Amino acid sequence: MSEDLESIAAALVADGKGILAADESVATLTRRFDAFGIQSTEQSRRAYREMLFTTRGAAEFISGAILYDETIRQESSGGTPLAQVLSRQGIVPGIKVDTGANPLAGSADETVTEGLDGLRDRLAEYHGMGARFAKWRAVIRITDTLPSVACVSANAHALARYAALCQEQHLVPIVEPEVLMNGPHTTERCEDVAAMALHAVFHALFEQGVALESMLLKPNMVIAGMECSRRASVQEVASATLRCLRRHVPAAVPGIVFLSGGQTDRMATAHLNEINRLPGPRAWKISFSYGRALQDAAMGAWHGRDENLTAGQHAFYHRARCNGAASLGKYTEEMEAEPVNARSSEHRRD
Ligand code: 13P
Repeated sequence: MSEDLESIAAALVADGKGILAADESVATLTRRFDAFGIQSTEQSRRAYREMLFTTRGAAEFISGAILYDETIRQESSGGTPLAQVLSRQGIVPGIKVDTGANPLAGSADETVTEGLDGLRDRLAEYHGMGARFAKWRAVIRITDTLPSVACVSANAHALARYAALCQEQHLVPIVEPEVLMNGPHTTERCEDVAAMALHAVFHALFEQGVALESMLLKPNMVIAGMECSRRASVQEVASATLRCLRRHVPAAVPGIVFLSGGQTDRMATAHLNEINRLPGPRAWKISFSYGRALQDAAMGAWHGRDENLTAGQHAFYHRARCNGAASLGKYTEEMEAEPVNARSSEHRRD
């Protein structure tokens, strides 16, 4: 694979492909495991990630996978570093490099994402371990009075400094300003806040000299809060999302890869599909970088048991295939009922 950043960014949004976000911190993955009664140990987290990464045929729909620090240091049961397990399959390894969202001074209910201290050296180390792209997630919360200007500008500044450092260290930055779905806000309010956040982020990227051709944007969709009583239709979400992106994302950015943010897996697929079916010009590839929407079914099918590895891989392969189709606007409800070819996704030990 070509090592220049533009080629890597283009490969990550190749036709029909998107990214697996498997970069949950130990605390977050433990919470997800708890929901299924799966014990979280270093070994169970390793086995779970190995199950996903060795799914035969996944590379048809998955271009890259974002790892967490613990995972990039782990080896498969056969003794191969997990990052190498991915690259041998044709999946580009990536790494989450922020150190988490911490309370923002002066604003009681908001956070700023941290991790810039020592980042240059950490990026160099991750590059040496095989990572070719990185992720940093900023969190923006909507209430009647939030987000504050302080929250949006502090997070935009940190995202831009992270992105500039990534490019200096030969990693493609994924810039993720996530406007949360928590709360009762409407789709319209989400669109206003997402617009403001994107505007601030691209302003900061410009100030820090980030090459837009060599990055990807990972935004939320424009969608009502989970406690909003008026649910917008799939078409309304798709139109509002594409309108907001057209207004605020420069044409030089090669790709937009959505987070799923708490949508059900099928809704995340349906929305992505509809966005890709809308008429009119768009400058960038539009695909996915889903965590929960790619993993929930697989985690449930696996349930922490070795004997369920194949079932877990089938579930993962199925969602990857549906989202791959959605990234081309070719997903249909009927695909949900199509059985996964047993041989196409069986476990492969290496
Ligand atoms: P979800 O798709 O579960 O929102 O996760 C994507 C992600 O990487 C959040 O940072």
